[in-house]
Formats: sequence, C-alpha cells, structure tokens
Amino acid sequence: MKFYTLKNEQKLPAIGLGTWKSAPGEVGKAVIEALKAGYRHIDCAATYGNEAEVGEALKTAFAQGIVERQDIWVTSKLWNNAHESDKVIPALEKTLTDLQLNYLDLYLIHWPVAFKADVNFATKANEFLTPNEAPIIDTWKKMEEAYEGGLVKSIGVSNFSIQKLKDLMVDATHQPEVNQVELHPLLQQNELLEFCNNNSIIITGYSPLGSGDRATSMKKDNEPSLLNNKIIKDIANDHNCTSAQVLIAWHLSRGTAVIPKSTNPQRIKQNYESYEIELTDSDLEKIAAMDKNYRYVDGTFFEVAGGPYKNIYDE
Ligand code: A2P
Repeated sequence: MKFYTLKNEQKLPAIGLGTWKSAPGEVGKAVIEALKAGYRHIDCAATYGNEAEVGEALKTAFAQGIVERQDIWVTSKLWNNAHESDKVIPALEKTLTDLQLNYLDLYLIHWPVAFKADVNFATKANEFLTPNEAPIIDTWKKMEEAYEGGLVKSIGVSNFSIQKLKDLMVDATHQPEVNQVELHPLLQQNELLEFCNNNSIIITGYSPLGSGDRATSMKKDNEPSLLNNKIIKDIANDHNCTSAQVLIAWHLSRGTAVIPKSTNPQRIKQNYESYEIELTDSDLEKIAAMDKNYRYVDGTFFEVAGGPYKNIYDE
C-alpha cells in the first residue's frame, strides 16, 4: 500500500476505511473485514456514533493477531460541541476510551464550526458559539497540547478552506498535517490541493464515491451520480475494474489519501484493491474535465437564520 509521509515523519496509508454512516451492528464487522483485507487505516469520528463498536473490533483484531496496534493508523475527529478549551482533551479522552486505544494516529478538528457544549447538532442560532466565543486557534492550542502530550501522533483539520488554513497557520506552533475534505471528480479542489501541497499538508478525500447512503435530508434533488457517471464507467471498462475502483485510484494518482466507506465485505476488499489500478494520462485528462465544484456535503446545514456561520467553504 502507498503511504504519504507527513512533516512529522508519520506515514499515512493512502486508502483507509471510512466509517461515517456505517450502522451499529455493521461497523465492527466492517473494520475486521478491512483489516483482514489489508487496510491499515481506519477513519472515525466521535459524531459518527459508532466508535465504541469500532473499539471492540480493534480489540478483537489485536487479540486475534490480525494486526498489531503499531501497524495501523486510526484517525478520529473533535466534534463541534467540544471546541472550547476545557472540552477538547476530555472529548479526545472519551474517543480514546471508546476506541480502547491509548493514542490516536491523527486527530482532526471536524469542522470550522462551534456548538455549545450541550448541543449535539445545532439547528438554531443560539445553539452555536461564534468564532469570537470559541476561536479556532484556542481549540488548536489544545490539539497541540494533545500532540505534545503523546495522546495523538499527528494533528490536523477537516473541511478547512485555504483562507481558514492560512488563518490557523499564522498562529499555530505545530502546523496541521492533514486537511480532510470532500474530494472526487465533480469536486476536484485544485487550488486547495495546490495550497496544501505547497505547505506539506496531506489532503484526505471523503465522500469519494458520492456518499449515496447519506440521509435523505442531506440530499438535494437530482444529485449527480459518480458511480454511474459515463466517463468513469468507460474508464472502468477499459481497466476491467469497477467505477468505485477508478474513483479511488484517481486519488492515489493525485497524491491524496482516500477513505471509501463500505460495510460489505466484497466491496471493502474491492475498494482496497484499487491501489493496483494505474490510470493513464488520457484517463486523468477525461476525469479532469469533469470538475464542476459540486458538493454532496455543502455545509449549508450550519447556515441557520441569524446564526454565526455562513459560506463556511469561503467560496
Ligand atoms: P456499502 O456500504 O453497502 O458498500 P462514500 O465512501 O462516498 O461515503 O460512499 C459510500 C457508499 O458507497 C455506500 O452506500 C456504500 O455502500 C457504497 N459503496 C462502497 N463501496 C462501493 C463499491 N465498491 N461499489 C459500489 N458502491 C460502493
């Protein structure tokens, strides 16, 4: 498997198992299947509501000798209701307890958006904390503290625009290692990728397959399909592989990590095997022409009337 070496010399495996939307009762089995198939990178988050089951699966995998702790990469994310300085380390500790780990390989600020501590998902203006009430740099200082204390081996962010990265980097002591963002042929984020490359920040792409299993409330009418896209399907035919494998291989060709979600054993294996597919220059040109800045996860769910967050991607 391909790895990306971060500024701090940690090695991030290029393909990880996504666990967003993986249902309770399924996610643990998916983690075991993935580790057996060769995955060494599991992407988690407190808000996915399934870290305890992931933790049980990891414990089983270690006990059965499928993998050892030091051979795998586990990412998790700080939820929006724990941005206040006194909440960051306790939130991390809760994730570590749930995952039954004594350190994470990577901890990310999940969104550049803060909620009040007792709010799981803010839907009214008064349930948010403004950027003045919870400055992202104060949250980052606590991430740095976790890093220096060894609770996490690397720190980074998620859903950050170039502007938000720049603002953070000016005041950071330890620079972010990773920015995890939505990334696929319909949202290629070339400027962000260039900025991250220039600043040695690795991008991890989420929703690489279009996240068709999102809740209906998160979907727009007539969303374009990535898996059924004609250009992708034709390229898949040429390589005798599946559309999902083309979509995953595209990330590796651009130097980004990728975290396809599946709970199906065959698809988990198939997604991992994408690393064997070498897209040609002609394939890459065709895919490059597909960009339309289309977001499946458009962030408008944080834009409530009178609330403090608008246009979170700064577009
Ligand atoms: P399943 O979990 O049943 O395999 P994303 O990673 O963009 O969030 O997309 C996840 C969605 O894509 C899920 O509905 C998942 O279903 C589906 N999926 C994952 N791998 C594949 C694959 N190889 N082929 C088709 N669909 C896939």
